[in-house]
Amino acid sequence: MRVLSIETSCDDTCISIFEATGGVQNASFKMLADNSNSQINIHIPYGGVYPMLAKREHKKNLPILLEMALRDAKMQPLPNPPLIKGGGRKEGPPDKGDKGGLNPGIDLVCVTYGPGLEMCLWEGILFAQDLAKKWNVPLIPVNHMEGHVLSIFGKNKGNFKVTKLKTPILTLLVSGGHTQLVLTKKWMDYEIIGETLDDAVGEAYDKVARMLDLPYPGGPHISRLAEEARNSREGSLGRSDGDGQRKFLAKNFRADSAGISGFSLPRPMLKSPNFNFSYAGLKTAVLYLIKKIGPLDEEKKKAIALEFENAAIECLTYKTAKAIEKYKIKTLIVAGGVAANTHLRRELKAKSYKLKPKILFPTMELARDNSVMIGIAGYLNYIKNKKKTPAPEFIKATGKLKL
Ligand code: KG4
Ligand code: ZN
Repeated sequence: MRVLSIETSCDDTCISIFEATGGVQNASFKMLADNSNSQINIHIPYGGVYPMLAKREHKKNLPILLEMALRDAKMQPLPNPPLIKGGGRKEGPPDKGDKGGLNPGIDLVCVTYGPGLEMCLWEGILFAQDLAKKWNVPLIPVNHMEGHVLSIFGKNKGNFKVTKLKTPILTLLVSGGHTQLVLTKKWMDYEIIGETLDDAVGEAYDKVARMLDLPYPGGPHISRLAEEARNSREGSLGRSDGDGQRKFLAKNFRADSAGISGFSLPRPMLKSPNFNFSYAGLKTAVLYLIKKIGPLDEEKKKAIALEFENAAIECLTYKTAKAIEKYKIKTLIVAGGVAANTHLRRELKAKSYKLKPKILFPTMELARDNSVMIGIAGYLNYIKNKKKTPAPEFIKATGKLKL
């Protein structure tokens, strides 16, 4: 079946179309179109997402992206409804089962309904409701975070498959709004076993980036500075060759090249007897550090980025490894915007786990918000729920939707 998916939960407007077949653990996909519009440049002057502007951009871009996606998928909607006997054109939605009228050949529409910025979610939902009605097809509401979990299967182009993963599965979900450890004992069931008590890790990256005068979104910029500092330090010390040396480097060579030797940042809740996280204190510690060490030059920024990233990622990898051991995890999924982070990927792979779980990350493109993951989650839920779907008009934006 042909699936069209829509994502507008934050500052990316995205529409994809793919052909999907198969069941929840053996589905096959063929990408036909994937179009998106990032609003980063619009929000940069505000240092973060400005919801009213984001909503306006979604509204403006959705029809344009739809047209592009249909063209890429070689599915042109008929310019007008079909002619009816006796002259004139048919009005209103096509009859039930009528795929000939305005429908270009889409069988299912999927849309993110939460979590996210409600006014942005509504733009996607209203647009999707209109399409589902006009095309007379079911509409599937998708949880954005389930989309991130399932993003590990996706590709922007070509073909891909959903395969059976060994359970129990642990997912580290890390984005601008979430930092969660999620346990899956049964496929597509989710139990949150730990989460942040305050800021999300991506949010901490973004806030620290602002303190360092780096543009929004801060994650990639901090990560780049930290990598530069790490490489120059490792370069002068010989390359890191595994967990042991990496720990030695992290412990003994914390941000001292800037002549601010001796500073280290806290690892909040690292040793707490649960799987929760906290990033508000780490962010405040960076603020105090900046006040203490005075005007920032490039070297100081790099040193702070390095120590901040080491601290932020250590909290994630430490608790993830503990959860892997406790729940005898066979598959680890790492997803969400922060899953694009090089240091996180490297550290999770380098850790020594007794049970050696398979570790899965999304492609770099699909770590960030996208509609491919929304289509995968929508299609799998459609199949899982035996094609029972809610009435489109009952779908409501739910900003704080839980997994
Ligand atoms: O999943 P996502 O695109 O949007 C949300 O659903 O929140 O995640 C965006 C977050 C931002 O906070 C951004 O700074 C962070 O992911 N991020 C990164 C990196 N790339 C994006 N954080 C650390 N390192 C990165 N390379
Ligand atoms: Zn996201």
